[in-house]
Amino acid sequence: MSKLFGGYVAVLDSGVGGLTVLRQLQNDFPQCNYLYLADNAYCPYGTKTPKQIYDRVCKAVNFLEGNGAEAIVLACNTASIFAEEIRCGCGVPLYDVILPTCRLVAKTTVTKKVALLATNATVQSNVYAKQLALYGIQTASFPCSDFVPVVEAGAVDTFDCDKIIKTALKDIGNADFDTVVLGCTHFPLLRHKLTPYFGQAKVLECVTDFCPDIVADGAVGASVYFTTGDSKTTKITSKYFSEVTFEHIDI
Ligand code: DGL
Repeated sequence: MSKLFGGYVAVLDSGVGGLTVLRQLQNDFPQCNYLYLADNAYCPYGTKTPKQIYDRVCKAVNFLEGNGAEAIVLACNTASIFAEEIRCGCGVPLYDVILPTCRLVAKTTVTKKVALLATNATVQSNVYAKQLALYGIQTASFPCSDFVPVVEAGAVDTFDCDKIIKTALKDIGNADFDTVVLGCTHFPLLRHKLTPYFGQAKVLECVTDFCPDIVADGAVGASVYFTTGDSKTTKITSKYFSEVTFEHIDI
């Protein structure tokens, strides 16, 4: 459990995808202050090597911890692959999205067969498949890193996006599942393009188990947004969240 939130809860992703998790947090805990960090200078994470991802996420987490974060939420599955290792070296509570999402999947699936759409790195790590296997669940995984730049470019409603989805999901018709996990926080932003591929299956978005137990004086429910990339570009690409304005920060 986290302690005081007169300071802020840091929410980290490679880009705008983690805003889908921040929305849930702002909704569930509107009294907390949030700092959202989009690491656009290193986006996408999902096509980088495990070492590159680990090193970068450690750097971002250290930065946030050293700059007043009272809790950190990895609003990114690809970063969450390393949650356990990073948590050990982190001086503040660190939350991820993979384990809580797996618990939600376990409560949802009846047939114990699920489809996972995630970045290439998340699929290759096997973290979802291993966790879900502990609940007796079989996972059919679909690496979909190509979706991430489309979302970042704000190009979801384009013919190119349709082609990219069709290619990535060309074999999904052969898979047997009653539940789909959108195992990348960018993917809810193209949910309307994906659902036609899922038949009657239930579609789950990632969740985190962050929960403040005390909200300190000075917590007013404010949110600030930073990007390591170009703040103007990030503002345009985050058009899904019109009220969000990014400031640039170097890490
Ligand atoms: N939004 C991220 C995730 O949940 C990462 C996307 C990427 O940078 O590849 O995995």
